[in-house]
Amino acid sequence: MKKNVYIGITLDFLHPGLVNILSEARKFGTLTVGLLTDEAVVGHRNKPLLSFEQRLKILKSTKLYDKIVPQNEWTYAPNVLKLKPDYVVHGSKWSFHYGNKIKKELLDALKTYGGELKEIAYTEGFDNLTITSNSESTSYNRILTLRNKLKSNGFIRVIEAHSALCGVIIENLSINKEGKKREFDGMWSSSLTDSTLNAMPDIEALDISTRLSNLKHTLDVTKKPIIFDGDTGGKIEHFVFTVKNLEREGISAVIIEDKVGLKKNSLFGTSVKQEQDTIEGFCNKIKAGKAAQTTEIFSIYARIESLICGKSVDDALERAFAYTGAGVDGIMIHSKEKSGEDIKEFVKGFRSKDKITTLIIVPTTYNHINEEYWIDLGVNIIIYANHLLRSSYPSMLDTARKILEDSNSVRASENCISIKEILTLIPGTK
Ligand code: SPV
Ligand code: MG
Repeated sequence: MKKNVYIGITLDFLHPGLVNILSEARKFGTLTVGLLTDEAVVGHRNKPLLSFEQRLKILKSTKLYDKIVPQNEWTYAPNVLKLKPDYVVHGSKWSFHYGNKIKKELLDALKTYGGELKEIAYTEGFDNLTITSNSESTSYNRILTLRNKLKSNGFIRVIEAHSALCGVIIENLSINKEGKKREFDGMWSSSLTDSTLNAMPDIEALDISTRLSNLKHTLDVTKKPIIFDGDTGGKIEHFVFTVKNLEREGISAVIIEDKVGLKKNSLFGTSVKQEQDTIEGFCNKIKAGKAAQTTEIFSIYARIESLICGKSVDDALERAFAYTGAGVDGIMIHSKEKSGEDIKEFVKGFRSKDKITTLIIVPTTYNHINEEYWIDLGVNIIIYANHLLRSSYPSMLDTARKILEDSNSVRASENCISIKEILTLIPGTK
């Protein structure tokens, strides 16, 4: 008897890779194609280029299927459990959003009735990601550097860059530690240091357009990924524009914090009024941001402020799972406690239920705990959020003071790089 076969596809456009996998799938038996609805896709990648009806029309015009059903979820398991096909066909790449989780759910579903997964090798150069990245500008490729680094290293080390000169340091500095090269993998565009550099308070008064136009200089002279501190993200109606603007510039990710009202820097903790958004309100912001993306590779990370606002680790965990459910690409957990115990508890609690979502920490106050400890616990990104500005300010102040005190710059020059060095620091000065 002819076997039943199932495949789930989005079909943004018909390309040789897709024709190949559908043809191969059909060789196994009667092929049901689960066409992903727009709702199934939103939150996990960019919205399909064409509507469900348009994509359905394209599929129907081919001879590559026997039946078509809608797939209403990103994961294949519900349709597979309903249809119980003998085989589910899938490409051999699972490196899309939640890919490994989805594969596990699929295998679990197939196990319940004895179905089988058939993996087909991707046609080289003809998966959606490669086609779109080939056809998009270099900013697309730059956005991708963050996901690529996370995929290949599992961990990335990020430091704040408030100027293009910081960018140059981050881009070029590497050391050898215990026989291994060490460097910073990316840059943090901090609201605190951007504001401070412009002598403005960190209350979202320095607008995003100004911050972005300053960041252009850094983008010009660096290649490493940039994570943008999006503060609260502002109103949902404004956040969707921010997402598009950041993507256009080649920034890899934005982190938005779940606070509302006049934002105050988190490191004030409960000494100032800080109000958290409702879970529902913030999930809506996440969903709107994910739906606004033009690429599928830009990341939106949710920053949980429960611990900053004096709430419990359980409150933070509840929010974290709700935010991942809303489609966020990663969770940043923040605290101003010095021990780091609350962050440890959160990371352990989160990782006991979720092994894959990117976890980010900012160890400014609990800075005695080494990176290795956090990596073992399952942290993926560590951000040194303000150190380049904080270290340059005392040096500038001291230099200025010494000139005032001495009526000359002899002592002050001890703080300075030489004229020869500054003239050769940036290529092309001569
Ligand atoms: C920033 O760098 O602006 C941050 C991190 O948001 S913190 O200052 O710790 O709140
Ligand atoms: Mg900030």
